[in-house]
Formats: sequence, C-alpha cells, structure tokens
Amino acid sequence: MSIFSGLFTPKKSEQNGQPSYLDASEYKVPKHLAIIMDGNGRWAKKRHLPRVAGHKEGMETVKRVTKLANQAGVKVLTVYAFSTENWSRPEDEVKFLMKLPVTFFDTFVPELLEQNVRVETIGDIDHLPAATRQAVLDAKADTAKNDGLILNFALNYGGQQEIVDAAKKLGQRMLDGELAIEQIDADTLASELTTAFLGDLANPDLIIRTSGEERLSNFLPFQAAYSEFYFTDVLWPDFAEGDFKAALAAYTKRDRRFGKVKA
Ligand code: FPP
Repeated sequence: MSIFSGLFTPKKSEQNGQPSYLDASEYKVPKHLAIIMDGNGRWAKKRHLPRVAGHKEGMETVKRVTKLANQAGVKVLTVYAFSTENWSRPEDEVKFLMKLPVTFFDTFVPELLEQNVRVETIGDIDHLPAATRQAVLDAKADTAKNDGLILNFALNYGGQQEIVDAAKKLGQRMLDGELAIEQIDADTLASELTTAFLGDLANPDLIIRTSGEERLSNFLPFQAAYSEFYFTDVLWPDFAEGDFKAALAAYTKRDRRFGKVKA
C-alpha cells in the first residue's frame, strides 16, 4: 500500500458504467506528465463531422484527464494545445481553436478550484487573440493560490524557438557582463526556458502521444532529453480512463537509467 491508498473516491468508469478506482498504489506515477493530444481531426472525419467537432470533444478529454492525473498524484500535466505551426491551419479551424480556451475556462474553472488545480502556460500568449489571452490570464489569476496539480497549457508554443530565445537571453547576459561563457551549461540554459518556473519538475517524466503518430513535433525538445515515451493508436477524443491506466502501467515497467549503469 502506498501513501496514495485511500485518497481516491470511486469514479464511474466511462467505459462500462461500473464504479472503478484509479488506485495510484498500483503504479509508478510520473511527477510531470506531458501529452501530445493528437487525432482530433481523424476522430471527427470518422464520424463525418467537421474537424472542429474533434477539437471540441478533445477539450472534454482534457477535463477528464486532468481529473485522472490529479487522482493519480501527478504534479504537472502539460498539454500541447496549440503549436506555433498550427497558425497555418485553415482560418476557421484556427479561430475555433482560439475560442476553446475561453469555453474551457468558462465551464471548468469552478471544478479546477474544487480540485485545487493551478493553471499555467508555456508559449507566447501575448500574441493570442485578445479574448483568448484574457481567458487564459483570468484562469491563471483565479487558480493562482491552488497548490495541487499544475495544469500547464502549451499555447502558441514551439520548442526550437524556446531554445533560440533562451540562447539569446544567455547571449544578452554575457554582453551585459553578468555571465561568463564557462558558466553556460544545461542548467543555465534550462533556467531561461519557459518551463523554468517548474523548477525540479520542468522535464516531463512521461510523454504520451495519441493517434498512432510517433514523433515529438517541436514539443519540449530540450526538456524531453530523458523522458519516457508512450504511443497509443487511440485518438485523443476517445482517450479514456482505461487508456490513462494503460499508459501508467507501461511507465511503471520502464527502467529509467538516465545514461547510467544500474548499481
Ligand atoms: C491535434 O489533432 C490537436 C490539436 C492541434 C489541438 C489540440 C487541442 C485540443 C485537444 C483542445 C484543447 C483544449 C483547450 C482547453 C485549449 P489534429 O487536429 O492534428 O488531428 P488529426 O491529426 O487527426 O488531423
């Protein structure tokens, strides 16, 4: 039995209507879980629906997975909601994706408060449409005092640009005479990344990608250096409690050595 035992209340399983537990004592739980939520478009296509219907359903999955991650004892859940490359999608789809955070926070902030979840973001939120940016800022402010799970949205995020920006900041500090070249190492660079506020939790322990695609797509390339990966064919809108448990079960079996030999 782990310290998590007994903390969880029975939840209705979404798959068979039977009550079920997410008993974290059965798993090794990643402290930082990151998710590439892929397959919304294909989910919609299979149902002869417009692509945006998949994104709407995908938003519901974010709510479900936030609760599951919180129950399991995950400390940081980073979700890839909008990449810097996503701006080149059809205008209507981009517009819809930009409205999603507004809808999401309008409907979900009370539950986030109940669950002691704090909202954070990585990525350039200054260049989001005004209403989207405001919804995000409000959600962050409303949940700022919560000290439970951090629900971290990667919004207008691109990993290579993040590294370039960090390199520029280090260069500026050198030009200002604050930093010597010998002082630059992985930790100094990490201190200028947008995940620096997460401290020891900045690097994901586990990255899940749904929909059968197996690549990083510019998501946390620096921070993922020693992450474990879990790929599933399940499309993001269909990702349910059983799939979450399967990912945790796979992670539980991983032997993380960080390049070392086991003693
Ligand atoms: C990838 O699927 C998904 C996205 C680019 C958007 C992800 C956004 C959500 C799941 C909703 C986020 C919720 C909030 C609250 C902001 P895709 O469209 O590339 O799917 P496809 O590969 O099947 O076409």
